[in-house]
Amino acid sequence: MTTQQKSDEWKEKQKKMLAWNRLWLNYEYGQSVWTFVNGLRIPHKAINMGQGFPDESIDCPIFLKKAAQHAVFNQFNQYTATTGQGNLVNELIRIYNNKFNGQISLASNNEPGKIRDKIQLTPENIQITNGCCGGCNAIFEALLNPGDEVITLEPYFDFYKFQIAQAQGVHKTVPLRLSANQQRWTFDPMSLKKVLNSKTKMLLLNTPHNPTGYVMSWKEMQQIASILKDFPDVIIACDEVYEYLVYDNNKHYHFAAVNSDVYARTLTLSSAAKTFSATGWKIGVCIQKQVRQTHDVPVFVLI
Ligand SMILES: Cc1ncc(COP(=O)(O)O)c(C=O)c1O
Repeated sequence: MTTQQKSDEWKEKQKKMLAWNRLWLNYEYGQSVWTFVNGLRIPHKAINMGQGFPDESIDCPIFLKKAAQHAVFNQFNQYTATTGQGNLVNELIRIYNNKFNGQISLASNNEPGKIRDKIQLTPENIQITNGCCGGCNAIFEALLNPGDEVITLEPYFDFYKFQIAQAQGVHKTVPLRLSANQQRWTFDPMSLKKVLNSKTKMLLLNTPHNPTGYVMSWKEMQQIASILKDFPDVIIACDEVYEYLVYDNNKHYHFAAVNSDVYARTLTLSSAAKTFSATGWKIGVCIQKQVRQTHDVPVFVLI
């Protein structure tokens, strides 16, 4: 059978699935960039620009490999709590409490006259997820009703589109633009204002950004938070999977810590993938409470 015939046969099969299986997405949108490029890479001996993992020279650190080895040899191979292994959860609470609270002095200037309480994450706020992708999927499945709109920046990490559609949401975008001297990417908060409407359920930010490398400034975050005051029901999700990969005097800020209004409705997503050059591990975190049951259903438990 030729490749073309195989592809036609597959498309026919997909059509038949239509009524009962949301896999119609593959047919409707074509394959994801990853599936497509990975398939071509080996026969063509090409560089893989479809998957973003750190350069091969930046290997997963030895301490992490040793910790994994130690865990596997010391009976850490069974189900854990559904929200994640206790030591990992506690360590993430410590790290993100420090990081979020480190921004509070900046945030206080944002809310004149208001004494900002310290953020105190507890185990309730942490869900270990099946990578950042698993976290995104859980938030869409947990929070979207059919027809709800999700706004992302454009260009965007292509999985968002599939996951939003799978949860029967509607994907809207706000463009990033190159600055006049073409040296950096910029975001015009006013363009966000034009897309927000009564059907908007979620604003999904991604900073540092894939695929442009754009890092959202504190000022831009403040402007977005101010626009969102008029949309108090909009949930914000912030994919920060590249939070430690910041270059050229840029600084990464957590949207959740911009002010107390957005803190209450921001889900922060991250993972070990890029931070530790361990993209195959698929260990992520979602910070806030809303997704816990939804993640349990398909995955049950993780590390
Ligand atoms: C923006 C963004 N979010 C999430 C992911 C996937 O993260 P994980 O491997 O932890 O699921 C990627 C991977 O390329 C990404 O670029």
